[in-house]
Amino acid sequence: MSKANIRIANQADLAAIKDIIVAAWDGRSEDHLMEKKYGVIENVPWQQRMIASVLGGIAEDFSNIFVAEFNGRVAGFAMYSVDDKNKTGIVGYNAVHPDMWGQGIGSVQIENILGIFRQKGLKYAKVMTGLDELHAGARRTYEKFGFTPLATYVAYSMNL
Ligand SMILES: CC(C)(COP(=O)(O)OP(=O)(O)OC[C@H]1O[C@@H](n2cnc3c(N)ncnc32)[C@H](O)[C@@H]1OP(=O)(O)O)[C@@H](O)C(=O)NCCC(=O)NCCS
Repeated sequence: MSKANIRIANQADLAAIKDIIVAAWDGRSEDHLMEKKYGVIENVPWQQRMIASVLGGIAEDFSNIFVAEFNGRVAGFAMYSVDDKNKTGIVGYNAVHPDMWGQGIGSVQIENILGIFRQKGLKYAKVMTGLDELHAGARRTYEKFGFTPLATYVAYSMNL
């Protein structure tokens, strides 16, 4: 098994990252769950909403987003932010294209970000994910690096 190569993302990766967002969060994202529950909201399909949520913050600055290349293809991406005041690194959106799940790519992405946090001298790391079966892979990925549960949440919605 070849190991994924991690590098900082650039503009040319955006199309691949968008493909990964749509494929990896199919059925998992709150935007998709809202659409399944209520139909397309305000004529904006969940894919477009999810892409905007993930990529909205990066605009010109790609310094906090990495891609993983695997067999010559952009197979995954991962983002992070830093809360300097509290010496805490926050793992952000991360995903691997489902065609390439289970080959260690997601793990390499998290390992890379935790390495950056440690290099920066941060003391704590946080990440959020779902408790449902569809997020079992994400939970396992975080837990294998040492994350342990902090708090649990539920997301509600209703018609008005
Ligand atoms: C989470 C995700 C990035 C993992 O990517 P990946 O490349 O498949 O990860 P890896 O191959 O490194 O596997 C990581 C670990 O999870 C385990 N795993 C993967 N899928 C699993 C599942 N459905 N149930 C239980 N464990 C699972 C793997 O066995 C591995 O553990 P191990 O090293 O002890 O064997 C990928 O599943 C994904 O994109 N999910 C959808 C988006 C998402 O949930 N993102 C993160 C939350 S925002």
